[in-house]
Amino acid sequence: MNLQSHPANGLSGEVTCPGDKSISQRILIIGSLLNCDIAISGFLDAEDPNSTMMALNNLGSSIKKENSIVSISHRSKPFSNPSSFLDLGNSGTGIRLLTGFISGLNIEATLIGDSSLSKRPMSRVVDPLTAMGKEISTNSGKAPIQIKRGTIKDNFEYVMPIASAQVKSSLMLAALSSGNSIKITEPKVTRDHTERMIQYLDGSIEIIESSQDKTIFLKSSKLSKISSYEVVGDFSSAAFIIVAVLISKNSEVIIKNVGLNETRSGLLEVLLKMNANIKIVNKRQTCNEDCGDIIIKSSKLEGIKVPNSIIPNIIDEIPILSIAASFAEGKTSIKNASELKVKESDRLYATSMGLKKMNISHELLNDGLVINGTLDDVEIHGEIESFGDHRIAMSFLIAGLRSKNGVKVKDCTNIETSFPNFSKIMKNLGMNIHE
Ligand code: S3P
Repeated sequence: MNLQSHPANGLSGEVTCPGDKSISQRILIIGSLLNCDIAISGFLDAEDPNSTMMALNNLGSSIKKENSIVSISHRSKPFSNPSSFLDLGNSGTGIRLLTGFISGLNIEATLIGDSSLSKRPMSRVVDPLTAMGKEISTNSGKAPIQIKRGTIKDNFEYVMPIASAQVKSSLMLAALSSGNSIKITEPKVTRDHTERMIQYLDGSIEIIESSQDKTIFLKSSKLSKISSYEVVGDFSSAAFIIVAVLISKNSEVIIKNVGLNETRSGLLEVLLKMNANIKIVNKRQTCNEDCGDIIIKSSKLEGIKVPNSIIPNIIDEIPILSIAASFAEGKTSIKNASELKVKESDRLYATSMGLKKMNISHELLNDGLVINGTLDDVEIHGEIESFGDHRIAMSFLIAGLRSKNGVKVKDCTNIETSFPNFSKIMKNLGMNIHE
């Protein structure tokens, strides 16, 4: 499905942020391990969390989705070998977290994904899980991942070579599901939803942060059972709306219930430095996650040098930040972001290809982008390729707001993986977006 968007007369209104994808997947996995009846509200009903849900049900979980509530029910039987391959579709979080989780159980399973997921590196989780005692085979470090025999060692210690919340969470889940302790050191602080969820469930977890790194000591202990869990809104989805409002004229929008975990919301800090008119109100905590409402107004943005240290905390927002930078005065440089090359697409290349079609002067680096913004609306030449990547598709549809002639983005079907209501929400705010 291709989508087109056009310049609008301004965006306005109020919207409730869709549920957080990372947290939705984590509560399904950890909730299944708790083995009790849990009602989950705010769950993101999108392809990625749904593929994780189906995989867990295939392992013996009993998870149901009815209207907007997802319920996990107590299992009478232990987890068991699945009857078929576990298909995680497009979801990197699903396949990597479940590889860890299953490794800690006494079962065998094969995990597969779609063509994009099958090209992404899996050694980053398979290698440490093998060192933890598991026998796992892959297709040269890529999916299918076949989890075989072996038991997880107690007190495993791991210093992560890359900053990745998926790797960190995969190993913590292996320790949790096998009932062992683990010590993990991460070079840079990445999203900490797994740690927060374990803390929320009274798990024994100690975190020591220094200026250089962060070490997590997760001790084997029973987690407390809960009867309900509320997922906060996804900052990464809110990011598209935030930038859409900032770059549009005469606009003001309020987004309610946005997750504001500081390991996720680095884009706010970056945009504020770029002179964005953003206010946060009604700050609170839900299930050990910070959240609040965000009021955004049209802004005259200025280019900045994005600090290297914030990259892991804006990792999914760099494509949409590139659109903000395209309509900011001066130069914005983003470096140290080579992880973007192994996301749902090579996001540095994909962003650069789209910026070219927008006639935005920029430089594609090996680890980032340097973008020379313009205050003028742009003429977009030809169709923009999404590379089958939801965040690339949504970013360039937002860019259409500042086009003279509209934009057509090819293959937007993948928006379903993270933000199924994207078009509907943007239309309600005043954007002209259609097939
Ligand atoms: C995620 C972690 C990040 C992020 C992804 C979701 C998670 O990936 O890009 O969209 O839920 O843990 P990496 O851990 O590979 O950086």
